[in-house]
Amino acid sequence: MTHHAHHQDHSHSHAGHVELAETLRLDALLLGAYLDEASEWAAGFIAAPATVVDLGAGSGAGTVALARRFPHADIMALDRSPGMLAEVALAAAQHGIQNRVTTLEADLEQGLPASASADLMWASSFVHELKDPEGALRQMHDTLRPGGVLIVIEMDSLPTFLPASALSGVESRLHEGLAHLGWNAHPDWSEALLGAGFVSVERRLFPSVGSLESSTASLTSRYARAFLSRMREATGSSLSPADQASLEKLLGHGPGSVEQRPDLQLRGSRTGWAALKA
Ligand SMILES: C[S@@+](CC[C@H](N)C(=O)[O-])C[C@H]1O[C@@H](n2cnc3c(N)ncnc32)[C@H](O)[C@@H]1O
Repeated sequence: MTHHAHHQDHSHSHAGHVELAETLRLDALLLGAYLDEASEWAAGFIAAPATVVDLGAGSGAGTVALARRFPHADIMALDRSPGMLAEVALAAAQHGIQNRVTTLEADLEQGLPASASADLMWASSFVHELKDPEGALRQMHDTLRPGGVLIVIEMDSLPTFLPASALSGVESRLHEGLAHLGWNAHPDWSEALLGAGFVSVERRLFPSVGSLESSTASLTSRYARAFLSRMREATGSSLSPADQASLEKLLGHGPGSVEQRPDLQLRGSRTGWAALKA
């Protein structure tokens, strides 16, 4: 199996963490239907986990969804970024679940601490970021309690904001450019999960479409601006002058800007894997 350039994780730097946290929060608000759907899916495998660990918790969207679905569970959010863990603590306090949520600063490249043992583990948009995902999945298997479940979630593709033909298809070329840089690259994890020792693996698709309600229009354009800016920064001068001009227009403040285009429609899709430990 080939892997997985390190790419969009700027979370070690302060500015990077703030920017990534904002993107994750907007994603959860607009495309977060999968959070409740996948938590419900997990409950079909393990009805009442006493302990849950959210690996690579980011801004805590998964932590909060898991705490909501499993009201008697203690939830640990693990991340290597202290800034992200502060976001999780804030989100936990805002949802009144701070008494059940703990945070653990740990870098999975250095190994998964034994204190992260749990009945249910959740790793969303995370496994593909690791240098040795197979080794990490093995550690997750070994650290889970017997009979435990690991839910892995990945984005099938980057979020899409524009109709396919808009601006001569600039968005698909941006995504192609980022794929070359290794953004979001991941295989079907089924084989690696079985190789890590899990006894069975189920896979499920979670498609989602952003709401077209006017109440979310400004959030959608905020997310579009944040994501397109990150994509422009990453692809830089590798884009054609015409595509760079299209991005200028989208990220400018005139009539063609993301705030003023009438045709923004957010789409995304995720795949989940549920892996069971004997
Ligand atoms: C793309 S975010 C996903 C956040 C969240 N799970 C979600 O789905 O919205 C990946 C997170 O993993 C964390 N991370 C990346 N590599 C890590 C590692 N080796 N150990 C611990 N956390 C890591 C980053 O700091 C970041 O918060």
